[in-house]
This record gives sequence, C-alpha cells and structure tokens, in this order.
Amino acid sequence: VPGSMVDSFGRRIDYVRISVTDRCNLRCRYCMAEHMQFLPKRDVLTLEEIVELGDIFIARGVRRIRLTGGEPLVRRGVGELFRALGSRIGNGLEEVTLTTNGVLLGQFAALLANSGVRRVNVSLDSRRPDRFAHITRGGELGSVLRGIAAARDAGLGVKINMVALAGLNDDEFEEMLLWCDGEGLDLTLIETMPLGEVEEDRTCHYLPLDAVRRGLEQRFTLTPSLGRTGGPARYYEISGLSARLGMITPLSANFCAGCNRIRVAATGTVYGCLGHDQKVELRDALRSGGAEAVDALLDRLLAGKPKGHDFRIAAARPAVARHMSVTGG
Ligand code: GTP
Ligand code: 5AD
Ligand code: SF4
Repeated sequence: VPGSMVDSFGRRIDYVRISVTDRCNLRCRYCMAEHMQFLPKRDVLTLEEIVELGDIFIARGVRRIRLTGGEPLVRRGVGELFRALGSRIGNGLEEVTLTTNGVLLGQFAALLANSGVRRVNVSLDSRRPDRFAHITRGGELGSVLRGIAAARDAGLGVKINMVALAGLNDDEFEEMLLWCDGEGLDLTLIETMPLGEVEEDRTCHYLPLDAVRRGLEQRFTLTPSLGRTGGPARYYEISGLSARLGMITPLSANFCAGCNRIRVAATGTVYGCLGHDQKVELRDALRSGGAEAVDALLDRLLAGKPKGHDFRIAAARPAVARHMSVTGG
C-alpha cells in the first residue's frame, strides 16, 4: 500500500486503537486511581474529527480500528461514530471493534451489529457480584451480564477479557472458562501491566499466565492454536470445549516483535507504544493543517516507535505515568 505505515523496525502498522473518552462509569483498581482528573471537553476530539482521523488512517493502510476508552459507550453520540466508521468497512478497512466494560452494552448491541461491528471485547474479572463490585469499585455485575447476553443475542462475537489477579480472582479461571463455553463466548486472560500510579499494589496481585495455564492443564487439555486475531493474544483450543482461550503475556512472554498497532488518546495524542511516553499531538494539525500535517506527524511517530515496552512488575514506579484508561489498553 503506498503511504502505508511501517516503523523503523520494519513492523507494519495496520491496527489503530482510538480512545473516544477518558471517562468511565467504573473504577477498576488496576486501571484507574480512585480519584481521577478527567479532561475538559474542549481538549477532546469531536466525533467528526475522529472520523476524519479514521479516514486518514484508512488511507494509510489501517485495516482494523478498535474503539476504546475509558469506557467508549459513555461518550455522547458514540453510536453515530460506529455508524460512520462502520460505513467505511470494505475497501481496505476490515473491521471496527469495541472494547467495553459491558455496563451499557445492552443499549448498544443492536446498533453495533447494524453498524457492521462483528465482535466486541468485554472486561469481566469476576462473576461473583461482591468481588466484581470490589475490583471495579462499585460496579453492578448484573448490568454487565445483561450487556453480554444482549451482544451475543445480537449476533456479535464476544470475547471476555479477564485480568488475572492473585488473591482477587485466581480461583475463578476454571469456572469462568466453563461459563464462557456454555454462553458461547471466548475468554482471554491478561497479565496486569504497571501503568500509572494506582492505590492497588500490582506486585502482589501479579500472576504470570504460564502458572495459570499449568493449573488449567490439571483439568483440561490445552492445545496451542495457530489462529491469531492480529493482537497480542496467543490462543489455545481446549478439548471438549468450544470456547477458545487466549493469553496476553506482556510480562512473562514478550510479543513486541510482532507489534502492529498504535493508539490514539481522546485528545488526539497518539502513542507509539503502550509502555512508553513517545507520542505526537495530532489535534491541532487536524484542526488547522489537515491531512498532510497529520501524515507528517504520523511519520515522525513511526520513526520513533519504541522496540517494545519494558514493564517490570516489581519496579518502584510504573513504567509510564499515564493510566491505562488514557488509551484503553
Ligand atoms: P484484538 O487484537 O483486536 O482482538 O484485541 P486485543 O485483545 O488486543 O484488545 P483488548 O482491547 O481486548 O485488549 C486486551 C488486553 O491486551 C488489554 O489489557 C490491552 O492493554 C492489551 N494489549 C492490547 N494491545 C497491546 C499491545 O500492543 N501491547 C501490550 N503490552 N498490551 C496490549
Ligand atoms: N493491566 C492489564 N490489563 C488492563 N486493563 C486495564 N488496566 C489494565 C492493566 N493495568 C484491561 C481491561 C480491559 C482491557 C482494555 O485492558 O480489563 O479489558
Ligand atoms: Fe507494541 Fe508497545 Fe504493545 Fe509491545 S508494548 S506490543 S511494542 S504497543
């Protein structure tokens, strides 16, 4: 593709994660601090600017766009954004996807399916109401379960994201897997990553996923699957189950050599890597300079995109100061 995005390590960037708001209706302990300072509205890209940016990315060979947050479904008008981006599917753009906490998914499931979204990732760290409320600082499990059911019933593929947390949900992997299987969902486990200062001690909750896999192997036969969705997860088929199990292991098994992505924050700041502060600011270029100015900034971002993260779980301070919620992972 002419003008396509390739970084200095030869990695082709064809996947962009766009955060549409830094706000969230939950406060997951590993993601946000209890009291967060949210952005003033004028600093946030308008829906029109996000679509414009989406078109610039598509012109540069981006094939997948994932909307994230904060919680994307709390952004006013986000339905129109799905409609607009969904109308670009075909001619290069292959998919538009969503990562959500699921609380508002019931209201949006039909619109998402009608807009061309085919799969959504829903964060769910526990199926026990009290634990769920603890981890999310007050979330109501029932709303998420209803959202998941609505998404599935609307024909969307649903992948559950479960951050593996020692002492918080580490006795629930087997039952979560069986539940996903029964509900027609896939499950991905994630190692907790140190971004932003949170009150939670991530060191004591960190759980390397190879240990989790060995635990599950006591009960199931896991076969590594070659299938990839273009993301960092490695998948396993499980004998006797139809649910697929994914593992995202930034700490215990680095996947940066295959990186295909960059991420846009709600302000229009674009980060080259989840684990670094390297960035360019697109908002002003978008507001005054147009596509050429944006392209020049993207070229600068790609030239400096770091080789990979250097997250270390036991480090005294997080590898980057910004919170996970700034880019939605
Ligand atoms: P697809 O690849 O689109 O299927 O989804 P995904 O699993 O990448 O997206 P999702 O938003 O569900 O993210 C799941 C977890 O993967 C989150 O914890 C993200 O922070 C993490 N993740 C996604 N991309 C990257 C990446 O490039 N680097 C690292 N270190 N983590 C990532
Ligand atoms: N480490 C790993 N995953 C995280 N997520 C949020 N914060 C962290 C973190 N510190 C997950 C959410 C969501 C996905 C986008 O990222 O649970 O599923
Ligand atoms: Fe890419 Fe950075 Fe994620 Fe590694 S940590 S996969 S380089 S975004």
